[in-house]
Amino acid sequence: MTFERLILERGDDAVATLTIHRPDALNALDAATMGELERAVDEVAADDGVRVLIVTGAGEKAFVSGADIAEISRLTPTTGARLSSRGQRVFRRLETMGKPSIAAINGYALGGGLELAMACSLRIAADSAKLGLPEVTLGIIPGYAGTQRLPRIVGRGVATEMILTGRALSADEALRVGLVNQVVPREELLEAARRLATRLLRNGPLAQRAALEAIDAAFDVDFDAGCRLESSLFGLLCDTADMHEGVGAFLEKRRARFEGK
Ligand code: COA
Repeated sequence: MTFERLILERGDDAVATLTIHRPDALNALDAATMGELERAVDEVAADDGVRVLIVTGAGEKAFVSGADIAEISRLTPTTGARLSSRGQRVFRRLETMGKPSIAAINGYALGGGLELAMACSLRIAADSAKLGLPEVTLGIIPGYAGTQRLPRIVGRGVATEMILTGRALSADEALRVGLVNQVVPREELLEAARRLATRLLRNGPLAQRAALEAIDAAFDVDFDAGCRLESSLFGLLCDTADMHEGVGAFLEKRRARFEGK
């Protein structure tokens, strides 16, 4: 599949890299880019050869600078609601595609950019990155589930401050509040993301899929229902070849080779 505003590259190690590529607008997500993102996520989700997705932005300055403000200026209540639900749907698809994703945040991750990073399973920031939800400075609020994901990741207090002030955090501040998992020098960002991806490739893909599903439920169902889901998923994994391989490898003191079966 070809894209004009994205680059989707498949490595030979089951890691794919998706680069948002709209450098003249600091990789802002206009409708066309969001459409391509939707197709790319579907493609990655359906491709059994891809086990981990890295998402990053083109250029030195920005991961993604947000939704496209020129497009926002033309929205009506009806088209605004539609744009918001579409973005929410695309990011939710990424979040629930059943394989881990890593946002490699190479610069500004603002508005829809931070919302995209938050829909990824893990986040690594360059030391130069800035992360924020500045929508209120434009007289709107986050529309791609930022008001829902940010409090789940950093807690209500920090999320409320970030959303009401619109202030962007430095990478170190983002690390301190748990918004990113790691901060690395800019020139080492992609290498760090690949290293983490390789670490993820060592473990059972079915187990990772189940873990992502159970973690997702932790914030949306009550504790007992979440525990029931965990038990069901745990039970399902007990009849997989991956489980026999993982446990067998431990007992035989060798490294496991998982096949996702
Ligand atoms: N939508 C559309 N265009 C955008 C954009 C966005 N979210 N963010 C940046 N751009 C465009 C600028 O209009 C500019 O275009 P131009 O060269 O044709 O004038 C180009 O990208 C470069 O941006 P510029 O503002 O000149 O770069 P900067 O280094 O001075 O500032 C930012 C960088 C990220 C701080 C600034 O661009 C910004 O605040 N962007 C908007 C962030 C935002 O509010 N996002 C949430 C949207 S809901």
